[in-house]
Amino acid sequence: MKLKAGDKFERSILANDGIAIEIVQDDYVIAYGNDVDLARMKNRGVLIASSDLQLEKNYRENVLHTNDFPAKDSIYHNYQELTDLVKDLAAKNSDLIKLSSIAVTTEKRDMWALEITNDPVNANQKPGIIFMGGHHAREHLSVEMPLMWAQYLVNEFRNGNPRITTLLNSRVIYIIPTVNPDGMEYDISGAKYQMWRKNRSRNSDGTYGVDLNRNYGYQWGTGGSSNNTNNETYIGAEPLSEVETVAIKNYIDTHSNITILLSYHSFSKLILYPWGHKYDGIEIVKDQAVHKKMAEKMATWNGYAPQQSSELYIASGDTTDWSYGEHKIISFTFELDPSSSGFGGGGFYPGASQIQPSFDKNLEPMLYLTEYADNPYRVLNVGIGPINP
Ligand code: ARG
Ligand code: ZN
Repeated sequence: MKLKAGDKFERSILANDGIAIEIVQDDYVIAYGNDVDLARMKNRGVLIASSDLQLEKNYRENVLHTNDFPAKDSIYHNYQELTDLVKDLAAKNSDLIKLSSIAVTTEKRDMWALEITNDPVNANQKPGIIFMGGHHAREHLSVEMPLMWAQYLVNEFRNGNPRITTLLNSRVIYIIPTVNPDGMEYDISGAKYQMWRKNRSRNSDGTYGVDLNRNYGYQWGTGGSSNNTNNETYIGAEPLSEVETVAIKNYIDTHSNITILLSYHSFSKLILYPWGHKYDGIEIVKDQAVHKKMAEKMATWNGYAPQQSSELYIASGDTTDWSYGEHKIISFTFELDPSSSGFGGGGFYPGASQIQPSFDKNLEPMLYLTEYADNPYRVLNVGIGPINP
């Protein structure tokens, strides 16, 4: 739906109401909600159009499939394909990759984590960086990025690419391709995309799903999220109530060498950094400066818009507020391509042709963050080279 909202304050009021805002423009937003949300928005007088998403909707409904991606999107990985890929990659490159299952979801799927380094014995002493995708079920492009990144690292290392050799010798790269295996599988179940966002937890009232990007334990439930189990941004019964968010928490808690985090979402072409739960900037001046400087630098490569995430709207309980708030990890959320769901856009379902260009433009940001993982604060000292092995 297309809703009237003229600034971040008006957008936060909408976010507080449990809908999921995906596109922010000067005087309106494009948001997703259920029919009850739609009626409520109409009552409030903010509804401009019930769907600005006709093309996305047509696409979704015209491309039929059976419990898998439709043929034209078959290059995207379903859960089984993802599992086969990471197992195969790890088996063939056991000197570089440690594959582990960090949790088993409600529907009994493994949550995979890859640890990539050329120095596995000392991995915990090496500067670490973590990449993850797929918090939200329908954001399939966000799963492809970390999967491609893992393959790129291994291939380029084998090819003798000196930049990658240096990185794998001196860093450990943690990759969790999907944080929401149940949700991503549900989204492609049936005959058309389900347009699903949350995980597949059974709530106490029989409804399904918690918004994993509202369930983390830092300033949980303090705004821009919903207590209503049926809503897109339902926070869960308590902070870290979900196996998926607990798995991420435990993984990061026990890898104290991690200095930088990047969580992929789609879509809107944004680079976001904390805080998300309040309008104030990060209090520690140099931390604020590192986030800002890195975001602006990365924007020169991918062309996305860098900003503090609450500039969009308030949202609490997200990954990056937790990882920065709890551990002072330098933390970013990327909202990948495309920029819109309307004409020529594609929204959550941008098609097969979007995968490679998205990876290409985001490769340099991934390399850059990995290089600075030894000490992100180096970015503030102009003139110091990119690598401190
Ligand atoms: N669009 C993502 C979500 O809804 C990112 C939110 C980022 N945080 C924020 N305060 N806007 O989960
Ligand atoms: Zn998302």
